[in-house]
Amino acid sequence: MELQEWAMRVFTADCLEEKLLAPEGGLKTLTDHEPGVAIPWSRPPRQAGIQISSNKSRKKFPKPNSLERLDMRIRCLHTFANHELMALELMAWALLKFPEAERGFRMGLAKILLDEQEHFRLYSHRLDAMGTQFGDLPINDHFWRAATDISTPLDWVCTMHLTFEQANLDHALFYSKHFRNVEDDASADLMYRIFEDEILHVKFGSRWLHHYHQPDKTLFETYESCMTRHNPPSRARGPVFQEEARRKAGLSDDYIQSLKLWEPND
Ligand SMILES: [Fe+2]
Ligand SMILES: [Fe+2]
Repeated sequence: MELQEWAMRVFTADCLEEKLLAPEGGLKTLTDHEPGVAIPWSRPPRQAGIQISSNKSRKKFPKPNSLERLDMRIRCLHTFANHELMALELMAWALLKFPEAERGFRMGLAKILLDEQEHFRLYSHRLDAMGTQFGDLPINDHFWRAATDISTPLDWVCTMHLTFEQANLDHALFYSKHFRNVEDDASADLMYRIFEDEILHVKFGSRWLHHYHQPDKTLFETYESCMTRHNPPSRARGPVFQEEARRKAGLSDDYIQSLKLWEPND
C-alpha cells in the first residue's frame, strides 16, 4: 500500500473504524513511490457523536486531587483520548502536507501515526471498561487550531512533536502517578505506556529539529521562531517538568534549560 493512500484514507475517514485503519500488510510493506501533491489543512470529518463541541458545553479539566471520583477520572481520560484522535488525524495530514520530505521523516511519521491509533484504542477501551464511551463528553479542537499556522516540516516538528507531545511527557507521568494514588492501576499503567511512547515521539522531533535547524540560531532559538499562535514554548511544559525524559528524547541540556526557564517578554 502507498503511504499517501493510507494517510488519505485515515485523514478523510468519517468513521472511527476507518480512522483506526492499519496499512495493509503492516508498516514494513508501505511504499512511498507516489507521495502526491501537498494538501492544505482542512478540518477532517467526524461522525455524529464525536464532533467538536461549542465552547460553552466544554467542561473544566479535572484537578488531580479530584481523581478519587470516577466521573473525574473519566473526564480526564476522555480528554486524553481526544488528544490521541487529533494527533492521529494530524499525523495523517502531515504525510499529505509534506510529500517532498525525506524518506526517514515520512516513515517515522507513519510509525507515530500507528502508535497514535493504538493510543486512541487503549483510551477508548479503558473508557468502555469504566462504563462510558468516547463521545459521551464534549470534545475540543485545540491541536487542530494550530494546523493552519504550519507551513514547513520544521514548523510541524516544533508544534506537534516539540510542543504538544513534549508537554505530554510531563502530563502523562503526572497523571499516571495520580491515578496510582487513587488505586486506579489500569489507568495508571495506560498513562505510563503513553509516557514511554511519547519519549520516542519527542525523540523524532529532536532528531528533525537538529536536521532542519537554522545554523545562525541555537536549537532553542530555532524552536522558538516556529511557534504557532496561542502555543508559546510554555505549552511544551506540564505540571512537573521531566528533565530526564527530555534527555532520553535526545534534547540537549541547553535546550532543556532554555525551555524550563522560558518566560514571555512583555
Ligand atoms: Fe499518543
Ligand atoms: Fe505521541
